[in-house]
Amino acid sequence: MSKICVIGTGYVGLVTGTCFAELGNQVTCVDIVVEKIERLKQGILPIYEPGLEEMVERNTRVGRLHFTTSYSEGLDNAEYIFISVNTPTGPGQRGADMRYVESAARSIAEELDHYAIIINKSTVPVGSGDVVSRIVSSSLKRPDVTFAVVSNPEFLREGAAVLDFMNPDRIVLGSSDADAARKVATLYLPLRAPFVITDIYTAEMIKYASNAFLATKISFINEIAQICERLGADVKEVAAGMGFDKRIGRAFLDAGLGYGGSCFPKDVRALAHMADEAGLHPQMLHAVMDINYDQRRLIVTKLTSILGSLRGCTIGILGLAFKANTDDMREAPSVDIIRWVTSQGAAVRVYDPVARETADEALKHENVRMESVQFCGDAYEVAEGADALVIVTEWNEFKSLNMPQIRGSMRRPVMIDGRNIYEAAEMNRLGFIYRGMGHGTGPAPSVLPSGDATSLPPAQLELEA
Ligand code: NAD
Ligand code: UGA
Repeated sequence: MSKICVIGTGYVGLVTGTCFAELGNQVTCVDIVVEKIERLKQGILPIYEPGLEEMVERNTRVGRLHFTTSYSEGLDNAEYIFISVNTPTGPGQRGADMRYVESAARSIAEELDHYAIIINKSTVPVGSGDVVSRIVSSSLKRPDVTFAVVSNPEFLREGAAVLDFMNPDRIVLGSSDADAARKVATLYLPLRAPFVITDIYTAEMIKYASNAFLATKISFINEIAQICERLGADVKEVAAGMGFDKRIGRAFLDAGLGYGGSCFPKDVRALAHMADEAGLHPQMLHAVMDINYDQRRLIVTKLTSILGSLRGCTIGILGLAFKANTDDMREAPSVDIIRWVTSQGAAVRVYDPVARETADEALKHENVRMESVQFCGDAYEVAEGADALVIVTEWNEFKSLNMPQIRGSMRRPVMIDGRNIYEAAEMNRLGFIYRGMGHGTGPAPSVLPSGDATSLPPAQLELEA
């Protein structure tokens, strides 16, 4: 049993603290947001993450997991202090904003009264371990206290965070103090994962390189998807065919709306910024970002190519979160898509199984015209009277909808499947004008519902003829 303090109770901090408690350690989680900590003390989680609530409840009940806003309480006898605060894109929209990490380091220094290992779990630019070291050294309230700094990047995915934390592919540890790195490794021994123990800069870089590589796979397949679409191939089959090659692998080859979330967008940006600052020209990273942005715009292009002007149209949006199984709206494609279609005069009807509140906040924050946005209770309500449906998030509950009912309630049977969850042939058979991401347009529906054909703009009638 070790005594652990985790700073920050977001996706990473809360999962890390809770899982370490589950493994038998004594954990105190510290956050500066009073309301968040008050709610956590009552068992109310600030995020949606499958399996986490039960684990928080269990470990709080048996006294292994505590929440506080007080650094002195959190650091009391702590042997390990994990910094898991946010590192969003900073002002100027390029590099990582280190303010929260720096502030956490200062707060640690002001309270630390014994030797401890400070571990950077936040995703931080190469060299940040040195920054934390310098801040702690220069702000220590007791200059005789010693400490070590270790980088231990986190690789969990939202929506599968508990599972990923408990079953990591590898544990990366970087430090100039090999003994401190080995001690941190002991915390992870129960997980039986391979360790990569290296220097601190390399550990910091492994995190960025991993995220950038996965983002690159996504942009690569999205570029291939656009080529497939133009040439009549099917990107889903292409990905399957490529994925059997062990050197390539099938993972992260799902073409669609591109990557969103709190990680890939900001981390690719930050890595490119680091390279720019170092006098390099990271062309591939810039291409990855450009392709990703273009994927979102494609939705509007597809809509207008079928509906003509969007003015006066009602567009149904299925899914708002940046991916399934999370309520996280950070850099979600839905926000851009809703902003673009509403700015062209369309109204939107939207539904997400868990992200309603976070979406409401995100849309307001991004200055979306809220009078054009109507939240609905399910997919069927979204479809009522809609001129088109757009699948934005691949929630399971969207995968087996009663399509004849959906089609029957729409004003025009247009479906843009941003996540390729349906089969084009089947959707065409059901009478939809269906467009996925990265496959030919497929045959025209054999029978357009009466009234629908004439309500399509001339361009589309020609397209379907
Ligand atoms: P988050 O925004 O969900 O949570 C961060 C938390 O830190 C918030 O609760 C905030 O109030 C708190 N905080 C900020 N400053 C603080 C301070 N000085 N003292 C105490 N608490 C403070 O962030 P997140 O998604 O958990 O990400 C945290 C870090 O982990 C980021 O660097 C991110 O890139 C990285 N990461 C995230 C994921 C993920 O899936 N979200 C996965 C791997 C790595
Ligand atoms: C990602 C990484 O997978 C984690 O390893 C990492 O720890 C985390 O970022 C982070 O550094 O914070 P996450 O953002 O939670 O995790 O979600 P992913 O499942 O990786 O998906 C990211 C985005 O890529 C989503 O928008 C998803 O829809 C998109 N994606 C994913 C695709 O478009 N195609 C794919 O084939 C896979």
